[in-house]
Amino acid sequence: MLKAAVLLLLHAAYVFGCGTPAVKPDVGRVVNGEDARPHSWPWQISLQVKHGSRYHHTCGGTLIGPRWVLTAGHCIWPGDVYRVVLGEHDMSQQEGSEQVRDILRIIVHPKWDIDHVANGNDLALLKLDKSPVLNDSVGAACLPEAEEILAHGTACYISGWGNLYTHGPMPDKLQQALLPVVEHSVCSRSDWWGINVKSTMICAGGDVVAGCNGDSGGPLNCLGGDGRWYVQGVTSFVSSRVCNEAKKPTVFTRVSAFTDWLSEVMLQY
Ligand SMILES: *[C@@H]1O[C@H](CO)[C@@H](O)[C@H](O)[C@H]1NC(C)=O
Repeated sequence: MLKAAVLLLLHAAYVFGCGTPAVKPDVGRVVNGEDARPHSWPWQISLQVKHGSRYHHTCGGTLIGPRWVLTAGHCIWPGDVYRVVLGEHDMSQQEGSEQVRDILRIIVHPKWDIDHVANGNDLALLKLDKSPVLNDSVGAACLPEAEEILAHGTACYISGWGNLYTHGPMPDKLQQALLPVVEHSVCSRSDWWGINVKSTMICAGGDVVAGCNGDSGGPLNCLGGDGRWYVQGVTSFVSSRVCNEAKKPTVFTRVSAFTDWLSEVMLQY
């Protein structure tokens, strides 16, 4: 029964299409944190929290289905009101490509615990009130296969509006940076992240470029062998001292460790 339902969901994902941006990301050279090509990560969303009468960017997220956004559990605070902006590139301008959606339902992973960040499960699913219009600025990323593990050094890209350096300003334009995957056996060495990094996490970067605060919840984008882009990680934590610390890669929730939970939630709600 569940298997049939999962197959149905996979079929739906296939019909929906994923991971093929109309505007190709700029991946031709090594990049060290730079403006992304506008709308080249069309699944990147801005999660915004309401303060007074205004909304402010608080986290990134990834469109993974017609009405589903994946973000981090730590981006969600009970009682706060959120919205999602899709098709965004330059936060300082109305570009005409933005689509704003309210959130119908928020499902935080039941085992996420803000007091035990190193336990992992830093994941939440947001169901939008209605499907965005899918076009050249808005499209979904693909989900990886269950338990897929990327090889050490695989070139992936982090994207987001996070601070570019420690305590730096938030950039207006979406940023991207090349972050090579650091395999678990390396990332969990005692002089790296040690026991703070679990096998349900994926590490990337840790040399010159790593994620910074505002990148939380956003995707680690990795190109699959089929030419499609997959969201392999959800940005979870970075070193609290500085953003780009050696041997302290950015740590992501490993999406391939949670495919069953994602399928169940998206079927149930
Ligand atoms: C995508 O659709 C939205 C909503 O209809 C529209 O505002 C935007 O201009 C479209 N963008 C492109 C690139 O077609």
